[in-house]
Amino acid sequence: MESNKKAVDPLSGKKILLGITGGIAAYKTAGICSRLKKKGSDVFCVLTPNAEKFINPVTLSALSGHRTVTDMFDNHEKVYHVSLPQSCDIILIAPATANTISKIANGICDNFLTTSVVSSSCPVLIAPAMNENMWINPIIQNNIKKLEQYGRYFFSGPGKGKLACGTEGTGRMQEEDIIIEDMENLVVLNNDLKGKKVLVTAGGTRENIDSVRYISNYSSGKMGYEISMEAVFRGAEEVILITTARNSGKIFKGKTILVNNTAEMKDMVLKYFNDADIIIMTAAVSDVVPQKKFEYKLKKKDELFENLKFRENDNILEIISEKKKKDQIIVGFAAESSQNIANAIEKINKRNIDFIVLNDISRNDIGFESDYNEITIIDKDGKIRKVPKAKKRLIAREIIDHILK
Ligand code: CTP
Repeated sequence: MESNKKAVDPLSGKKILLGITGGIAAYKTAGICSRLKKKGSDVFCVLTPNAEKFINPVTLSALSGHRTVTDMFDNHEKVYHVSLPQSCDIILIAPATANTISKIANGICDNFLTTSVVSSSCPVLIAPAMNENMWINPIIQNNIKKLEQYGRYFFSGPGKGKLACGTEGTGRMQEEDIIIEDMENLVVLNNDLKGKKVLVTAGGTRENIDSVRYISNYSSGKMGYEISMEAVFRGAEEVILITTARNSGKIFKGKTILVNNTAEMKDMVLKYFNDADIIIMTAAVSDVVPQKKFEYKLKKKDELFENLKFRENDNILEIISEKKKKDQIIVGFAAESSQNIANAIEKINKRNIDFIVLNDISRNDIGFESDYNEITIIDKDGKIRKVPKAKKRLIAREIIDHILK
């Protein structure tokens, strides 16, 4: 029997900031605005000063039902350039000029649109439109690559064809249908962890020897930080990052708990474990701890060497894998000095976890302290998937995609 229920449009009820910059294709954006309204989206149009030369704000106000913003200080409400973007589900910039793309890539906030993008946290879809020489200019391409690596900026187009300057080439604004389809996909991506509670550990633990010395490792905590940020971006209900890394900063819209050593990390993991749906253990937990911690500085001459005695550390992953509930997902990390898949497989087999992420810590260009990583995902059933080198945020996206599969 055919269902009478219509599938809900992903853009229905979504609040959209529609940014328009100064390009000929600006007139087409009126059509996009109208389509979005018909889908049930709440659309707020923002024009850059140059965009006003291409399209009349009155047209967009009439189509969207909200007064179009044209001026940086056009405060409809208090601090509108912050309140508007922060309440939006998605920002679309169509057409996006080389100028606006480059400003965003460099954090410049010189008009209402660029300021809104910087203060937002939702996905930003950019539909570039420009002359082909401008498009292929390495400066513009570098700015695009830079934005893509942050994980929150996405590009649609440009397409090939006749350009406004009379030539043929790449630089036409993406087709309306494809822009709308890309927006739908982004809104889904932005919500696919909805209702899930995510717990992440990060950084290298510091095990005190005495009041000044400790044993630790080079883990920077960046991978765990990026996974947490990605989980927030994917709409998780709660994200808790338990980290030793003081320099990464706090995660946005989540809880960051700073710890020093394994004992503190273990306590915090156990505190939040029961409620968590997904637990991702990126922390490089020290394998050894001093047998005794001295509260004063040991004297090198007659105390230090005889007191440097270690024992094997508690293994947090092992402890939680014994308590794992049926619908919980636990992801382990394996820091290996070479692409040692056999070792990682052994780690997954001896623990009740769902998959392990292997990263090669012997390479300087990825892993510890780097902004980049290259991983191999090994499933419980032995399936292996390699993820090529990318910024840690994009690696985080692959890990979360794998969990959702
Ligand atoms: N781990 C942990 N507690 C420890 C050691 C490791 O919870 N005391 C977790 C890490 O967070 C990681 C996984 O176990 O998710 C694997 O860590 P790794 O150091 O690569 O492996 P080990 O099991 O310690 O094995 P080895 O050091 O011998 O390779």
